[in-house]
Amino acid sequence: MVGGGLGAFIGGVHRTAARLDNRYELVAGVFSEEPQEAAMSARLLHIPEDRAYKTYQQMAEREADRSDRVDVVTIVTPNYLHFPIAKAFAEVGFNLICDKPLATTVQEARELAEITLQKDLIFCVTHNYTGYPMVREARALVANGELGAIRAVRATYSQQWLTTALEKTGNRQAAWRQDPSKGGAAGCIGDIGSHAFNLAAFVTGLEVEAVCAEICTFVPDRRVDDHAQVLIRYRGGARGLVWASQVAPGEDQRLELAVYGERGGLVWQHDSAERLVVTQFGDRPRILVRGAAGMSAAATRSTRLPAGLPEGYFECFANLYSDVADAITAKLDGKPVVNPEFPTVHDGVKVIEFIHACLRSSKAGATWIPL
Ligand SMILES: NC(=O)c1ccc[n+]([C@@H]2O[C@H](COP(=O)([O-])OP(=O)(O)OC[C@H]3O[C@@H](n4cnc5c(N)ncnc54)[C@H](O)[C@@H]3O)[C@@H](O)[C@H]2O)c1
Repeated sequence: MVGGGLGAFIGGVHRTAARLDNRYELVAGVFSEEPQEAAMSARLLHIPEDRAYKTYQQMAEREADRSDRVDVVTIVTPNYLHFPIAKAFAEVGFNLICDKPLATTVQEARELAEITLQKDLIFCVTHNYTGYPMVREARALVANGELGAIRAVRATYSQQWLTTALEKTGNRQAAWRQDPSKGGAAGCIGDIGSHAFNLAAFVTGLEVEAVCAEICTFVPDRRVDDHAQVLIRYRGGARGLVWASQVAPGEDQRLELAVYGERGGLVWQHDSAERLVVTQFGDRPRILVRGAAGMSAAATRSTRLPAGLPEGYFECFANLYSDVADAITAKLDGKPVVNPEFPTVHDGVKVIEFIHACLRSSKAGATWIPL
C-alpha cells in the first residue's frame, strides 16, 4: 500500500475491504510522505521493518528485486501522486489498485493505460460503487434488454462537507482537494462527479459523444469547483445528466442513478443500496432486494450475507478486491482474464477524458465538446 497512514481516510477502508474475503495480506508499504508518520503507521499495521519503506520509489525498486514481491500495489494518496506512483510500479511489472481519479491529466491517464497493456498488468481503479450487488443487478438488467433501448440517464452525487471553506481550517482531506497542485484542476467534478459518471457508464455501457458543462465555484476564494452540472449526448442517441455538488447542505454521499429505456426504468439510491426499483412501463414498480431469489449471476456472486442482514460500503470495496484477486490468480495460473467486472484503467481513462472535456466546455461558456 502507498498512502493510507495515520489520520488518512480511504486507506483504512481499502485495508478492511481487502481482508474481508481472506484473499489478501498486507505485507509492505509506504504509508505517508512524512518519515515518522510512515514508520509509526507501518508499526501499527504490523509491517516488517524491512518492508516499511520511506518512499514509493524505494518500495518499487526493492520489491521488484524480491523473490516474494507483492502481487499488487494499492495507491491511496492524494490525486497528483496517482500517476507517478502507478507509473513507477507499473514499469517494473506490478499489478495495481488505484483510487480515483486515475490521474490529473488525460495524457497521464492514457500513458498508464498504455503501460498496463505493454506490461500485461491487472489495473483496477476503485470506482467502488460498481461493487454494490444491486448496481451489478442493474447492469445485468440493462444488458439483458429488460428496459429496452436506453433513452435517458440521470446520475447525481451530492455532499455538504465543503459548503464552507473547510480547506482553511486545517482539515487534511479538504486542504489537498482544494489545492490544484495536489487534487488536480477538477474539484467536485473530479472528486465525486467522476463516480456519478462512471456509475452511469458501468450500468448502461453507453459511450459519450459530447458534453456540455457548467462547472461552478460557490465558496469565495476557493481554487477549484465545488458544483457541476453536465448534459451528455451518448452515442446512439441516448441523453444523460451528471449533477454533482459538494455544497449541498443536508446531503451526505447522496448518490443516485436513474436509467430510462423504451420499455422500463430503474432507480438505485446509495442510501438504500440494497434495493433496486425496476418498473416496466404500465406495470407496478418492483423492488428487488439484495440476496433475494432470482438475481443475476453478477449480483449473486457479489453477495455474502442472506437478505435482511445488511451489507454496505466495505463490502462494495471488497467486491472489487475479490474480483482483482480472481484476475491475479488467473494470471498467475496462466489463464486469460476476460472482461473483469471491476473498473479497469481503461474505465479510469474514460472518466478523466470526461472530466477534462467538462472543464473545457465550461470554460468555453458551456458549449458542446465532443469526446
Ligand atoms: N473511492 C472513493 O470513494 C474514495 C473516497 C475517498 C477518497 N478517495 C481517493 O483516495 C485518495 C486518498 O484520499 P483520502 O481522502 O484518503 O486522503 P487522505 O489525505 O486522508 O490520505 C492520503 C494519504 O496519503 C499519504 N501520502 C501523501 N503523500 C504520500 C507519499 N508521497 N507517499 C506515501 N504516502 C503519501 C498521506 O500521508 C495520507 O496518509 C484520493 O485520491 C481520493 O480521491 C476515494
